[in-house]
Amino acid sequence: MTRSAPVSPVARQVTCTAPVNIAVVKYWGKRDAKLILPSNSSLSVTLSQDDLHSRTTISLAPTHVTDRMWLNGSECSVPANERLVNCLAAARRHREALEKANPELPRWSTWGIHIGSENNFPTAAGLASSASGYACLVFTLAQVLELPLTGPELSRYARLGSGSACRSIMGGFVAWNMGTQADGTDSQAYQVAPETHWPELEALILVVNDAKKGTSSTVGMQTTVATSALAAHRFTHVVPERMRAMETAIADRDFAQFAELTMQDSNQFHAICLDTYPPIFYMNDTSKAVVHLVTAINRLMPTIQAAYTFDAGPNAVIYAPRDHMTRLLQLFTYFFPAPTDVSTRDFFNDPYARVPEGVV
Ligand code: ADP
Ligand code: DP6
Ligand code: CO
Repeated sequence: MTRSAPVSPVARQVTCTAPVNIAVVKYWGKRDAKLILPSNSSLSVTLSQDDLHSRTTISLAPTHVTDRMWLNGSECSVPANERLVNCLAAARRHREALEKANPELPRWSTWGIHIGSENNFPTAAGLASSASGYACLVFTLAQVLELPLTGPELSRYARLGSGSACRSIMGGFVAWNMGTQADGTDSQAYQVAPETHWPELEALILVVNDAKKGTSSTVGMQTTVATSALAAHRFTHVVPERMRAMETAIADRDFAQFAELTMQDSNQFHAICLDTYPPIFYMNDTSKAVVHLVTAINRLMPTIQAAYTFDAGPNAVIYAPRDHMTRLLQLFTYFFPAPTDVSTRDFFNDPYARVPEGVV
């Protein structure tokens, strides 16, 4: 996370950025929707914030009469967003307690909050915008209100905004322990290994379609928990052992094992989406072609070259050692060329667009 300094002695303003994280053991299901407590533990890789990130500016002023929020330049209603209201209320309560304990402190808890946030990548398209967005929001709130929060505390605050956000508070390889407490006090992220642990591991983002998804993650996983029998099996019989195996693969920097577990977990997550009633299809035909290509490459080569994973959207994330990336990029651009007679943006926006004849 990075931040810039406050600019005025009266009004306060802080800007921070936060990175996305892409899960290799997926979170999909809540046991408590209000506190955002998950049905299973999960594990992700936090990407470099030089790449996909949210940038949030929060200003705090006695003249701000109501709390307001702008996302990617458009104003959105604060009262209509319960998660946002919860995050703001939690931060204000915390500040108020500090002000009560020390009456010398300025009463910032009574000031209005204005939030402006932008993502430098598609929002709500399955590239973890809620993760970087809410991690950035709570981190910036803690800075502007001068809340002395530890990493685990920040993680629990971010969880109130979006489950996956609790993992974007930390860099490197991060696990979210589902916890056992009813109040969520032990449901937070911890770092499995820092980013320096495995610097050869890289991520390639393949944007298949940058449009907003039809079913949000929140609604999708709620329907899955209510209707999928396979999901219940995954929570108790698959994820606990897979979390252990994934932590070992990361500790050993064992790419073959890491890749196999990552692809299997992505497959199972999309299988429980299909088992949801009515079914949810996040992957489209292009996503499936990416799966086929990675599978073919891995089968043709003596060792596993790459792992695909798909979040709740059609866009692929490819994990691979740096040494394999140039060759993989050549293969992806050969098999998924940008068409020449329409803009790339139009092509990726239309899942049914055909590559024009003669381009391949
Ligand atoms: P994604 O796959 O991108 O995480 P979700 O359905 O999980 O999609 O969440 C998308 C929602 O996350 C948005 O509709 C918005 O409410 C919230 N969100 C996205 N980016 C930000 C941001 N920068 N700041 C605050 N909230 C954000
Ligand atoms: C497929 O964290 O976006 O990306 O907690 O309802 O905001 P809410 O959902 P969200 O779900 C993420 C689902 C996922 C897998 C993952 O990131 O672990
Ligand atoms: Co999300």
